[in-house]
Amino acid sequence: MARLVLPYISFIVFLLLMCMATQPGTGTTHSDEVKALGEIAEQLGKKDWNMNVDPCINDSSWSTPKLDSRPLYNNSLICNCLDSVCHVVALFLTGQDLAGVLPRSLVKLPYLKSLDLTRNFLSGNIPHEWVSTKLEFLSLSVNNLSGPIPNFLGSITTLRYMSIENNLFSGLVPIELGKLVNLENLILSTNNLSGELPVALTSLNNLTELRISSNNFTGRMLDFFQSWKKLEKLEIQASGFEGPIPSSISILSNLIELRISDLVGEGSNFPNLSSMTGMTKLMLRSCNIYGQIPTYISNMTQLRIL
Ligand SMILES: *[C@@H]1O[C@H](CO)[C@@H](O)[C@H](O)[C@H]1NC(C)=O
Ligand SMILES: *[C@@H]1O[C@H](CO)[C@@H](O)[C@H](O)[C@H]1NC(C)=O
Ligand SMILES: *[C@@H]1O[C@H](CO)[C@@H](O)[C@H](O)[C@H]1NC(C)=O
Ligand SMILES: *[C@@H]1O[C@H](CO)[C@@H](O)[C@H](O)[C@H]1NC(C)=O
Ligand SMILES: *[C@@H]1O[C@H](CO)[C@@H](O)[C@H](O)[C@H]1NC(C)=O
Ligand SMILES: *[C@@H]1O[C@H](CO)[C@@H](O)[C@H](O)[C@H]1NC(C)=O
Ligand SMILES: *[C@@H]1O[C@H](CO)[C@@H](O)[C@H](O)[C@H]1NC(C)=O
Ligand SMILES: *[C@@H]1O[C@H](CO)[C@@H](O)[C@H](O)[C@H]1NC(C)=O
Repeated sequence: MARLVLPYISFIVFLLLMCMATQPGTGTTHSDEVKALGEIAEQLGKKDWNMNVDPCINDSSWSTPKLDSRPLYNNSLICNCLDSVCHVVALFLTGQDLAGVLPRSLVKLPYLKSLDLTRNFLSGNIPHEWVSTKLEFLSLSVNNLSGPIPNFLGSITTLRYMSIENNLFSGLVPIELGKLVNLENLILSTNNLSGELPVALTSLNNLTELRISSNNFTGRMLDFFQSWKKLEKLEIQASGFEGPIPSSISILSNLIELRISDLVGEGSNFPNLSSMTGMTKLMLRSCNIYGQIPTYISNMTQLRIL
């Protein structure tokens, strides 16, 4: 009996192994990166990664992109496998109530391009080790991070998306952020940032989205729009800045969402928004605007919120 069945069992096992080996995205994670992930778990306070299975085989402990019971939850690790060696390229650990700190050992994942730690309880500041990462996407939104925005963030020049929204960051926006010339999205809203925005930010010519609402900035509203002609979304609500809205805003013909509110200080006529024909959301609340609403508003046929 055993002699008859054994070849079949062997064959089935062989088929299963073949099947696993040819699944997309499978392979063996580089051992240094597996070790690094163990350290990262400890620093983040993440307890549910199964360290007994390879991180890149798409095991559910390493990759559960969706939980119906928790709409804001995402637990995804994405690998890039070549010649049966896998490297971690993206980590999305959102809405998980992680209560540790930002992991120093992140730098031991040299292929990592995207990191999303949105909606946790991480505290402390950004570790200096991150200066040698090659991140392109970084979201630390909705955490408990505090202290100044570190100058060395300006050295991660690969960054194209950066959000530190909804934390307790304070102090000045560092001049060094002007070195992030590839930035397309810069989101600093809902912190306790103060002072004026540094003129160095005029080198961010590729910005399409800038949100700096709910902060404690001072002085006149920035007049950097000449340098930010690609802007599509601009949000400056209750930022602390004084009016009026600089007239150079008229140059932003790609704007589709504009929200400015609660400007203190001097008022002005309605700003010239006539070139922004693709506008979908326009909000100018408590900005001390007087005079008539211009008739070109009726040509903004995409407008959904006014
Ligand atoms: C990984 O598993 C999830 C289900 O847990 C599935 O939706 C996804 O397509 C899988 N990805 C790959 C690359 O196999
Ligand atoms: C979870 O994150 C992965 C990686 O970014 C993404 O592909 C997926 O769409 C996300 N899932 C949800 C439900 O947002
Ligand atoms: C938030 O961080 C502060 C230190 O900056 C700490 O005292 C506090 O306990 C943290 N809160 C939570 C909910 O983790
Ligand atoms: C905001 O920052 C200022 C210093 O710039 C500090 O005095 C104040 O305590 C901070 N407020 C909060 C709520 O952290
Ligand atoms: C801006 O984006 C363009 C096109 O994506 C890219 O070629 C360029 O290097 C980026 N940086 C600057 C400073 O223009
Ligand atoms: C904003 O800064 C001023 C002084 O610069 C300070 O008096 C005030 O408490 C700060 N507001 C918050 C919410 O921290
Ligand atoms: C409004 O701005 C547009 C685009 O910058 C410009 O062509 C136009 O002359 C301006 N209109 C007024 C009344 O200043
Ligand atoms: C609205 O657009 C039309 C067609 O482009 C143009 O002729 C008209 O002058 C515009 N109206 C206003 C008030 O700008």
